Amino acid sequence: VLRQLIFASRARTGLRPADTSAIIGRSRANNARDGVTGVLIYSGESFLQVAEGTDAMLSALWRRLIVDERHRHLVSIHDARIHARGFVDWRAGYVREEHLSHPVSRWQSFAAQLPEPEAEALRAFLRDAETF
Ligand SMILES: Cc1cc2nc3c(=O)[nH]c(=O)nc-3n(C[C@H](O)[C@H](O)[C@H](O)COP(=O)(O)O)c2cc1C
Repeated sequence: VLRQLIFASRARTGLRPADTSAIIGRSRANNARDGVTGVLIYSGESFLQVAEGTDAMLSALWRRLIVDERHRHLVSIHDARIHARGFVDWRAGYVREEHLSHPVSRWQSFAAQLPEPEAEALRAFLRDAETF
């Protein structure tokens, strides 16, 4: 059974580019091992991520995320069962904070009960983000 999880968080104060690189490097390796696909975008201040995989892998990832002190205010925006993956690999990318914070706070206001058109807009935002 596949699950898609979308979450947002805020970078810990004082997080450095080297910390972000370490998060991305480790995530890329772990997700390839665990069959987790998706996108992580960050602005230096905020993170937004979609992660897809088996229920077991996503639950394990969530348990690691909640104890990771490199970010705070971790909130689930969307958590749904999916029949097929929407993302074929795992990528990370950068967007400017002003392009991230406004849409993220709007999506957060739905309190993880995103209506389907909003969920699709969010997936499109993540799909179209420039990644590397
Ligand atoms: C915003 C953010 C996103 C993360 N995304 C992932 C991820 O997709 N996959 C992953 O394995 N770890 C991710 N991590 C790192 C985990 O919190 C945790 O540090 C890591 O999985 C531990 O891996 P290790 O047991 O191999 O050291 C993320 C951390 C942050 C702050």
